[in-house]
Amino acid sequence: MNFAYKILGTGSYLPGPSVENERFSEFLDTSDEWISTRTGISRRHLSQGEPTWKMGLHAATAAVEAAGIDAREIGLIIVSTLTPDYTTPILSCILQKELGAVNAFCFDVNEACTGFIQCFDIAMRYLMTSDIRHVLIVSAESLSKLVDYSDRRSCVLFGDGAGAVVLSRDLKSENTPYEAFFGADGELGGAIVGEAFPPARHPFMPEDMPVELTRFDHPSGRHIAMQGQEVYRFATTKMPFSVEKVLARANLSVDQIDRIIPHQANDRILQSAAKRLGIPSEKMVSHLRDMGNTSSASIPICLDQEVRAGRIKRGEKLIFAGFGGGLTYGALLCEY
Ligand code: ACO
Repeated sequence: MNFAYKILGTGSYLPGPSVENERFSEFLDTSDEWISTRTGISRRHLSQGEPTWKMGLHAATAAVEAAGIDAREIGLIIVSTLTPDYTTPILSCILQKELGAVNAFCFDVNEACTGFIQCFDIAMRYLMTSDIRHVLIVSAESLSKLVDYSDRRSCVLFGDGAGAVVLSRDLKSENTPYEAFFGADGELGGAIVGEAFPPARHPFMPEDMPVELTRFDHPSGRHIAMQGQEVYRFATTKMPFSVEKVLARANLSVDQIDRIIPHQANDRILQSAAKRLGIPSEKMVSHLRDMGNTSSASIPICLDQEVRAGRIKRGEKLIFAGFGGGLTYGALLCEY
C-alpha cells in the first residue's frame, strides 16, 4: 500500500523534582547500589499531587506546538493510560476540551506498558483508511498511584510522566516504511496484577454473601504486585522476538535501523535484547537512569527527549518495542 505519514511533532513532561534512589532507604531495606546495579535506575520523577490529565496536557501541548498545527486540525485523540484520574470522562476527552481540539473524536486505550505502540498502530490505521489528517497520541501515567511504597521489589522501579506525538498523513511524500507486530500471553497475567473494581456489595444481595475476586493470588489490593523474575524472562524473550518480527515483515536487517526505543523497564533487559539482536548498545535508547519505568509513557518521552537533543534526525528508521501487563508485547518500525 502506498502511504506516507510523518511524526510531525513530539512532546513530553516529567513532573515534580526527581527522587534519588537513596531516598528509598529512609523507609525501606534497600540501597542506591542495589537499585542502580540491578535496574540502571538512579532517580525518577514523581507527581507531587499533580493529576495524570495535567501531565498529559503538558506533553500534548508541546507536541501540537512542535507540529506547528492548530488544535482544531486534529481529527482524533488517542490516549494510553493505566492510571487515569477518572473512569469518565475519559482522559482523551479531557485533553480535547483543554486543547480546544473541537474536531477530534476521542478514545482511551489501556494496554499497560504496551499502550503507546498500540495507540500508534491504531492511529496509523485511521490515517491509512479515513480522511483524518492529524492524530494526537498521548501516553500519560502516574505510577505513583498504583505503587505500594512498602514493597521494595517494585516501588523503586516506577516513575510518573507523559509523552505525546502528532502523527499525520504526509501529502508530499510517496511512501514511508511502516510495520507492526503485537502479541499477548494471558497465561502470564498474574505476573503483574493491580485491581480495578472488585464486585460491588449492593442492596440486592444477601448480607453474608462474600464478594469474589479470586482470579489472581494478589494480596496488595489496588496496588501493583509484580513477579519481577517472570516479567524479566518474558521481556528478554519477547522484546527481541517482536523486533525480529517487524524487521522480517519490512525485509530489513537490524543494521539498517538507526535507533530502537524500547519500553524503559530495566537496563539489563535492554542490554540483553541488544546482545540477542546483535546491535551495539548505543542504538538501544535508555533513559532509565533519570526516569525509571513510566509505563506506556516511557517510549514517547524517550522519543521526544532524543528528538529535542538532536540525536534522532529526519529520515531515520526507528523501532519502538513494548511489553508489559497482560502480559502483552509488540514492536513497530517507523520513520522519523
Ligand atoms: N532493594 C534491595 N533488595 C531487593 C530489592 C530492593 N529494592 N528488591 C528486591 N530485593 C531483594 C529480594 O527481596 C531478594 O532477596 P531474597 O533473595 O532475600 O529474597 C533479592 O533482592 C533478589 O530478588 P530478585 O527479585 O531475584 O531480584 P532480580 O535480580 O530479579 O531483580 C527486578 C528484581 C529488578 C524487579 C527484576 O526482576 C526486573 O527488572 N524484572 C522486570 C520488571 C519489569 O520489567 N517490570 C516492567 C513491567 S511492569 C510495568 O511496566 C507496569
